[in-house]
Amino acid sequence: MTKEDIKAILQTIPYPGFSRDIVSFGMVHAIHIQDDAVQVVLKISTQQEEKKQAVQAAVREKLEATQAFSRIDVQLLDEPPTPAQPQPAETGSAVNGTIDHIIAVASGKGGVGKSTVAANLAVALQQRGYQVGLLDLDIYGPSLPITLGLNGQPEVTSDQKIIPLERYGMKVMSFGFLSGNETPVIWRGPLVARMTEQFFRDVKWGKLDYLILDLPPGTGDVQLTLSQKIPLTGAIIVTTPQDIALADVKKGADMFRKVNTPVLGVVENMSGFHVSGKIHFPDGSVPDGTRVTLAGTDQVQLEPDGTFSATLDVFKRGGGTRESERLGVPLLGVLPLHPDFMLATDRGEPLVRSHPESALARLYGALVDKLEQALRE
Ligand SMILES: Nc1ncnc2c1ncn2[C@@H]1O[C@H](COP(=O)(O)OP(=O)(O)O)[C@@H](O)[C@H]1O
Ligand SMILES: [Mg+2]
Repeated sequence: MTKEDIKAILQTIPYPGFSRDIVSFGMVHAIHIQDDAVQVVLKISTQQEEKKQAVQAAVREKLEATQAFSRIDVQLLDEPPTPAQPQPAETGSAVNGTIDHIIAVASGKGGVGKSTVAANLAVALQQRGYQVGLLDLDIYGPSLPITLGLNGQPEVTSDQKIIPLERYGMKVMSFGFLSGNETPVIWRGPLVARMTEQFFRDVKWGKLDYLILDLPPGTGDVQLTLSQKIPLTGAIIVTTPQDIALADVKKGADMFRKVNTPVLGVVENMSGFHVSGKIHFPDGSVPDGTRVTLAGTDQVQLEPDGTFSATLDVFKRGGGTRESERLGVPLLGVLPLHPDFMLATDRGEPLVRSHPESALARLYGALVDKLEQALRE
């Protein structure tokens, strides 16, 4: 057995309370092998003695199971952590509040509808009676002030904690509430990391069933900080049907996988163009045998009152299906392009709330069903 073999074994040990493993957290300080003796030195910076011991025991157990060594020594190094090595914060101190599910909504590139999906998903969960928070972490283009039509300065308590704003029955927070909703701020990595952490530690979230995170596109400092410091339940990846976006989806999914954050599913947005309208017959009823045809599709729905609807392909569709299959995760939803989504954004009220009975809103109901199912598995 080589050091690399042992490292690979240790990579299967998650740090208690996290999905990430102890190697990627930088907790394995050294591995020494001599003949049939092995020594592993761990460096874990936590106040919680029982966590250290749990890791120590788990390492010993794994090494014993290999039956490759007659002497196994697992040491704990008592040293303060070096700042260069990210260490997990304890869940309790990293997040101000009790949150059952922290779900990141991510995308490979901007403009695919990530913020729209995050806002509608949050509202759909709220409508089911859950306590929901929505946190906009897109520092370069905060959109919550727009999608929720909300501008306000959050209050700060005497002990320097931020009270999230309330909107549509949800607790909401955005970089935009702090930066004054202006043109994108260019911030450097360390500052971004600190701001990101503060949005969990210094915002009084209280008790939530779901906290939905609207991430910046791609894989940057925010994503890195989240995966290192915040106990994420999982990620949802939003994509459009174009192949170029799919290449980015792979990158995003691979990043979450690498840090052991489960990808809960894929949402394909702007998939086809949803058209609807109404044919007005002089006597108000649709004559028997009436058909509506539209170029580009052979599936037009015609209702008895004359309203019709169809989804036209704009780009090649089915990318979301392919990608979800490849990733082995569910396709949580396929949402068409529809002007109502845009109008809802302009009005500052997510469509799921402004038109709860619409066919488009019902697609979000189905999406929540699938998400809940993915969380049970
Ligand atoms: N399914 C959709 N149909 C029509 N417009 C959409 C749809 N999804 C998003 N949009 C619009 O596209 C624009 C970009 O969406 P946004 O959610 O801000 O993307 P991102 O957060 O990924 O940059 C917004 O104007 C939004 O209203
Ligand atoms: Mg956005």
